[in-house]
Amino acid sequence: MSKNTFAENQLRHALDDDAQVWLFGYGSLIYLVDFPYLESRPASIRGWSRRFWQGSHDHRGTEENPGRVVTLIDEPGAVCGGLAYLVEAPVFRQLDHREKNGYLRVATDMTFADGAQATGLTYIATSDNEAWLGEASEYEIALHICGAEGPSGPNDEYLLELASALRKLGQHDAHVFEIESHIGQIRSAGADRR
Ligand code: SIN
Repeated sequence: MSKNTFAENQLRHALDDDAQVWLFGYGSLIYLVDFPYLESRPASIRGWSRRFWQGSHDHRGTEENPGRVVTLIDEPGAVCGGLAYLVEAPVFRQLDHREKNGYLRVATDMTFADGAQATGLTYIATSDNEAWLGEASEYEIALHICGAEGPSGPNDEYLLELASALRKLGQHDAHVFEIESHIGQIRSAGADRR
């Protein structure tokens, strides 16, 4: 059973309703943009790596069979590329609902593609949240992803859309691309057997 972080996030940052806040997205927030924003810019954050170590019980899996989605892991020297959105503060209510399965809003510095910097918020699920699945090899993660599906769709769609969006942004992520390649092989081996 996963802990719902919606209420905790609502209390975390006192944002004035008329404030405009930068949101750094590194997972589905890059390619599934169902929230209003004023501006979006490719951006990166330092000291974090993207990993498919978080469970998804509400979007890409179920309570019985959670999927795997990305979170950020503290890693000195690492750079994680994504997309930043300038949003009006009330939009965080909708975002907190979407990211409620273990993610907490965290303040972060971000660097835009032109070198300019801003401070904003990102959603991170840490190892102490109840939906955490943790480390596994890229092959094990690929197998897991191939067997999960939730209300937002198949788990492999999440990964494939993310890999494609990262490519469009010119971002290389060895972890994501290796899982993508294993999924391709698992799928073609399955097709061969049919
Ligand atoms: C994000 O995209 O920034 C957070 C994780 C997700 O919603 O997939």
